[in-house]
Amino acid sequence: MYATLNFLYTYYGSRHHLRAARITASHITNIYILVPVQQFLAHPQYGARVAVASAPKRASRAMSTTHVSMRAAIAGAFSRPQLTNRMRCQRIVRSRALTTTSAAAKSLTLTKPDDWHLHVRDASKLSDVVPFTSATFARALIMPNLTPPVRTAEDAKEYRDMITRAAHDGFEAHMTLYLTDNTTPAQVEAAKACGFVRGYKLYPAGATTNSEYGVTDVRKVKDTIKKISELGLTLQVHGEVTHASVDVFDREAKFIEEVLIPLLDSAPELRVVMEHITTRDAAEFVASAPANIGATITPQHVLFNRNALFKGGLRPHFYCLPILKREEHREAVLAAATSGSKKFFLGTDSAPHPKGAKESACGCAGIFSAHAALPLYATAFESVNALDKLEAFASHNGADFYGVPRNIGTVTLEKKSWTVPTEYKFGDSVVVPFYAGEDIEWQMV
Ligand code: NCD
Ligand code: ZN
Repeated sequence: MYATLNFLYTYYGSRHHLRAARITASHITNIYILVPVQQFLAHPQYGARVAVASAPKRASRAMSTTHVSMRAAIAGAFSRPQLTNRMRCQRIVRSRALTTTSAAAKSLTLTKPDDWHLHVRDASKLSDVVPFTSATFARALIMPNLTPPVRTAEDAKEYRDMITRAAHDGFEAHMTLYLTDNTTPAQVEAAKACGFVRGYKLYPAGATTNSEYGVTDVRKVKDTIKKISELGLTLQVHGEVTHASVDVFDREAKFIEEVLIPLLDSAPELRVVMEHITTRDAAEFVASAPANIGATITPQHVLFNRNALFKGGLRPHFYCLPILKREEHREAVLAAATSGSKKFFLGTDSAPHPKGAKESACGCAGIFSAHAALPLYATAFESVNALDKLEAFASHNGADFYGVPRNIGTVTLEKKSWTVPTEYKFGDSVVVPFYAGEDIEWQMV
């Protein structure tokens, strides 16, 4: 958007901001101008797109010579909703600095990341999706909601071996077992002993895809959860209540109040990951909870709000559970992911379904994102000028939470647009990936 502009002139003073961003003259390939927005308000072409703001007069002098190339810059930079004009101006200044830096570098190198929430499905399909993850990630926590579910250490071993065979060398599948009303403390001990099981997944019965074997009431599994806690395993929680009387957009917040808080009261040491958080309520709850509570965050919940589900028609490929929420929640979840707090970490919830199962009168919940996971997070982090927080989120926080060593080795992303294919092979069908047919601005090198 700014590539065609020729001068830099921020109304905060360009030198100061260049210094703050540690940009030297050799980095500057393009120089940009920010002009007072008031000037544009009065302009017939720009006026409709720009809100009121004020700026020192000195900036306006530059405008007359550059107003043509400013049009795209101003329209794009000011289109983000719910920001005050001052914040917008500050963001432009900050994001210009960062983009200018990456225009020189154009790449981002991180410690190898981990995906702490991943669905790879059963034997007939997993070899089509596992390599997307193992090409980038060193480890992933594999979700157990197969039919039948992965319930015991033996089930997990067999499943894990299949995944390992399909993956790139060195990839480690870590497992979580499906908690049912009938899981026993003795089974938890066996799970702990095998070494690759990180915990149990709590699906409230009926909450999501293949959750019908899930827990009908956490009080029924009190002793099992006590054992999970004692052995230092983690409870991965799909945090939604399921009663029909609760609005689908309120189910996460209700879960915290009705299920999670009482559960933690009865087992305060229990290690819990609230999976795929989607609301301000969950972000705030986790941020203020003790260190034994963490959360994973998906790409879709930081990139889109619920409008995406209905844009120009019903969009099944944006349907996942927990469902996308309002913009204020997306912003809160993205703020949590980029806050630098160690409690939030990467878990894509990449959840492939055959195309026909999504594009159906009763379409399945789940978004397949493994083909572009890290580029998608980079896009979201860059949108709030927080690429410097991506490494901790993707590569450190989850490992630290689970008490496993951080990975050795690195991955590199490049700021280079690519177009996502419209589908990928998936068993005897195809899967429609997230951003199918659309461009993503970052790619793996
Ligand atoms: C997941 C799936 O398809 O297995 N779907 C989803 O929408 N996220 C299940 C889950 O994690 O809830
Ligand atoms: Zn999931």
